[in-house]
Amino acid sequence: MLLIKDASEIFLPDGVQKNASVLIEDGRIKKIGKNLEGEEIIDARGKTILPGFVDCHTHAIFAGSREFELEMKLNGASYEDIAKKGGGINYTVRKTREASFQQLFNESKKRLDRMLEYGTTTAEIKSGYGLNLESEIKILKVANELNRKHEIDIVPTFLGAHAVPPEIDKDEYIGLVMDEMIPVVAEKKLAKFCDVFCENGYFTVDESRRILQAGKEHGMTPKIHADEFSSCGGAGLAAEMNAISADHLLMASDDGIKRMATAGVNAVLLPAVPFSLMQERYAPARKMMKEGVRVALATDLNPNCWTENMQFVIQLACFKMGMTPREAIEGATINAARAVGMENEVGSIEEGKKADLVIIDAPSHVFIPYHFGVNLVEKVIKNGKVV
Ligand code: NIG
Ligand code: FE
Repeated sequence: MLLIKDASEIFLPDGVQKNASVLIEDGRIKKIGKNLEGEEIIDARGKTILPGFVDCHTHAIFAGSREFELEMKLNGASYEDIAKKGGGINYTVRKTREASFQQLFNESKKRLDRMLEYGTTTAEIKSGYGLNLESEIKILKVANELNRKHEIDIVPTFLGAHAVPPEIDKDEYIGLVMDEMIPVVAEKKLAKFCDVFCENGYFTVDESRRILQAGKEHGMTPKIHADEFSSCGGAGLAAEMNAISADHLLMASDDGIKRMATAGVNAVLLPAVPFSLMQERYAPARKMMKEGVRVALATDLNPNCWTENMQFVIQLACFKMGMTPREAIEGATINAARAVGMENEVGSIEEGKKADLVIIDAPSHVFIPYHFGVNLVEKVIKNGKVV
């Protein structure tokens, strides 16, 4: 029985509770309230207790780095320009194919260690830097091994349709994804979701539909990288396919947003991406919320947008997308849990849920966006244990 005692504030689903405690038993939240007793005690006076962050969209398993792209960005190059000049996804694919299982495991583990330090207790990880059967499987096996060995709970997603690799033509590659990769990934139970980069120059709406349909037939729920750089209909496709989430959505049309609301598709917004691409424009979070779409937040951790820090994402969500501190923290916790189908287990402080909690060195949740650029996490509790 662990008692986190007398916190200045506890972030609950329907508001905050002041000067109260959380009692944990067998890795689960047993009780929230005042005057509770426990065996082991953490003094939380002056601190805030939040649910552990759920980073629901990452590409955390990759080799190499692309710091050379920074100067290109400073000279005005777009994501597309950089890819044409030899950077972008296919650069990382080369490096990731060359890396051994062990190298990928070690490098990714280091990223997960940092995510945990910054308060992330559950993370989704996509494949997508292998782009052939062998390397995609290697990445997903690393994700599954990390899930077994690391404190963070990992939800793996198959993203074979991240880009077309240089050695094969597009139709042939789509055939490979649908007829070889998806069946093997499903048979080996390596991924829960199937994702597609639906974008000009990557996969069209029709191609994405076929790939996601094949994933569905093999038991993988669709997710979509949708309407990031152009309004090409990804949000509408997400609604049509009953995707669990549509992600990015900077350019989503009004109609696409309405259809997402009707179909109950979660929006996953990734404000560190326009930040890293030095763009002015961010996703229309307020419009989505007004239309009744649930907004989740994630880092998108990848070599183009390298951050493990969900607190920074919350800060950007407030400063660049006009989300309130509560909306942004819910986006990084319960709504993010919804975007990976884990909302019954994690994402909020409620009796019976997993005791995945962070203790923040600040008197209220508002400090997360307010006191920015530092790590406010003092302790992380995973499955009821301080890690
Ligand atoms: O989610 N948009 C597509 N894929 C990743 C970026 C991958 C990369 O640039 O390596 C994303 O932003
Ligand atoms: Fe992504």
